[in-house]
Amino acid sequence: MDVKKLEEAEEEASNSKPLLNTSTSTSHSNKPTLLLNFIACMSLITAVTFAILFFSLSPSSSSSSTTTARPLKKLPHPVVLLISSDGFRFGYQFKTPTPNIHRLINNGTEALTGLIPVFPTLTFPNHYSIVTGLYPPHHGIINNFFFDPITGEKFTMASHESKWWLGQPLWETVANNGKTAATYFWPGSEVIKGLWTCPLRFCKHYDGSVPFEDRVDTVLEYFDLPLDEIPVFMTLYFEDPDHQGHQVGPDDDEITQAVSRIDGVIGRLINGLEKRGVFEDVTIIMVGDHGMVGTCDQKLVFLDDLAPWVDITPNWVHSYTPLLAIWPPSNHSAADVVVKINEGLSSGRVENGNKLRVFLKEDLPQRLHYADSNRIPPIIGLVQEGYKVEQSRTGKKECGGAHGYDNAFFSMRTIFIGHGPQFARGRKIPSFQNVEIYNLITSILNVKGAPNNGSDSFPQSVLLPYA
Ligand SMILES: *[C@@H]1O[C@H](CO)[C@@H](O)[C@H](O)[C@H]1NC(C)=O
Ligand SMILES: *[C@@H]1O[C@H](CO)[C@@H](O)[C@H](O)[C@H]1NC(C)=O
Ligand SMILES: *[C@@H]1O[C@H](CO)[C@@H](O)[C@H](O)[C@H]1NC(C)=O
Ligand SMILES: [Zn+2]
Repeated sequence: MDVKKLEEAEEEASNSKPLLNTSTSTSHSNKPTLLLNFIACMSLITAVTFAILFFSLSPSSSSSSTTTARPLKKLPHPVVLLISSDGFRFGYQFKTPTPNIHRLINNGTEALTGLIPVFPTLTFPNHYSIVTGLYPPHHGIINNFFFDPITGEKFTMASHESKWWLGQPLWETVANNGKTAATYFWPGSEVIKGLWTCPLRFCKHYDGSVPFEDRVDTVLEYFDLPLDEIPVFMTLYFEDPDHQGHQVGPDDDEITQAVSRIDGVIGRLINGLEKRGVFEDVTIIMVGDHGMVGTCDQKLVFLDDLAPWVDITPNWVHSYTPLLAIWPPSNHSAADVVVKINEGLSSGRVENGNKLRVFLKEDLPQRLHYADSNRIPPIIGLVQEGYKVEQSRTGKKECGGAHGYDNAFFSMRTIFIGHGPQFARGRKIPSFQNVEIYNLITSILNVKGAPNNGSDSFPQSVLLPYA
């Protein structure tokens, strides 16, 4: 088992905390230090917990009957059903009884402290990292909205031209290997690439108004096909609880209800699979794309407050918050702009200035993997958890939720649950980054994948081998 690699991934994610805090060491509350101590302490506890879990739960210490994959009973080949519940923050599964999700957890393998999203912790970059195994600069979807710096064309979440979508998503990998995939919504799934043609029969065009139950029922119908026509890879996507999270933040009763509803549709899926006698044969991988944190009006940084140092006009700003992305016109030096912004922020004269720090993208911490694409604007700002960046004071009052922050924040974590023949029952594994999922799925399907940013050893560290 490749424990070391997993621990490194975990460490990589928790190392980031000092980032914002060191930058503000001249402006002094001791809160950052307290926070750091708390984090250091939590990391230690987490590390110890992992060590204990690894020794008590690793297959090598259990009986041999649990060290090999369970043979398929009905299906002629492995089938992976990849489910995303958008904005399912790690921990939501404990907000309210989730008996169906817990069936998957208790009889499957779970990331004990959640799945680590890629930076920026936004919906499109993360969904596409999950299915390509690539960090955003390599798969091209570096934000939910961005510009091509050469053509000036704009990418939006409705852009389906293949030039935007780099890398090789799983449905294409499956098609390229001569097998059938079926997508019931997933960012990028409508894009025609390689041997993936987004066939009418097995590729649903996004329509958020389709009830979750209908989505589940359609996927279940795929299991009524002649056995050799059942797609080997399927996706299923739910907009909740992200939708509610933005409106009310993570700690609201509306979230509790949304989580309960997601649990209900998972129950509908499990029952349908059981009725067809394939529940134990199908590999269900349930994930989210990112977490959610509460935001409120007093936690704001205004770019207009930086005017004494540098005039940042709205047309320089490609996105405000939580990912601040600035592209100054070519007659300005980006390096100079960064220096001036940071001067202003650390002057003590900008409200909440110590909660934001800007970087030339190439100077961002390497662990964020957010430099290697000409689509990424030259200046990137990282804002402290729960804070927002706006242009100017509008006086509007609102509290809600957001994501897109540094992927090291625990609030940005989401869930990973694997249930199926190659997942040990009741096993807990350490947190890992979602770019590992691509290799995990190609390994289960036994198809040849494309080069990516997941580690080759990850699948064997998590999956039970066939005897
Ligand atoms: C877990 O799987 C076993 C079969 O190995 C089954 O008897 C049990 O009911 C399952 N538990 C749940 C909660 O689904
Ligand atoms: C940069 O160019 C714009 C016009 O495109 C001009 O208004 C501005 O003054 C110039 N700034 C500098 C620093 O040269
Ligand atoms: C990620 O994968 C791409 C494609 O294989 C590769 O070009 C890039 O160097 C990788 N980056 C990292 C950080 O591993
Ligand atoms: Zn999302």
